[in-house]
Amino acid sequence: MSGTIGVLFVCLGNICRSPLAEGVLRELATRERVAARLDVDSAGTSAFHTGDSPDPRTLEVALRRGVRLEHAARQVTEIDLRRFDYIIAMDANNLEKIERLAEYAGGGAEVHLLREFDETAVGARDVPDPYFGGERGFEDVHDMVERACEGLLRHIREQRDF
Ligand code: 4NP
Repeated sequence: MSGTIGVLFVCLGNICRSPLAEGVLRELATRERVAARLDVDSAGTSAFHTGDSPDPRTLEVALRRGVRLEHAARQVTEIDLRRFDYIIAMDANNLEKIERLAEYAGGGAEVHLLREFDETAVGARDVPDPYFGGERGFEDVHDMVERACEGLLRHIREQRDF
């Protein structure tokens, strides 16, 4: 990964929110012609869906908005904590689990909640879990993830000067 900046998105199942954020950030970086600078991946705090493709509802909404997702779900590991430069959690639960893992895994990653990078998310900190909800939830999650990923990419580019 030398020369690239590692960004890992983390949610619970790694089939809805974090693979979406992975695809959206990659798409934004491609449009800004900086994709080669980034190594983007996603993982879940659980192993519930290990090996699964993203949820069909996530895939469908993303595709309609021009983002193709290709990912096999996996659980976050201690190695991830040392390998990635930015670890971005979707909600407070995921954040807590990452922080607990970081206590003994070490590593120097910056750990954030994704919505810290959404200027319109006043008071709202979590990307809500859409898994048990309806279609509208997936549309809303896509909007949130898109806005926040724009802010995140801006943050990384400013911090890393590219
Ligand atoms: P995600 O959504 O964390 O955004 O991938 C979920 C997917 C599956 C489950 C929960 C959340 N589940 O309980 O199986």
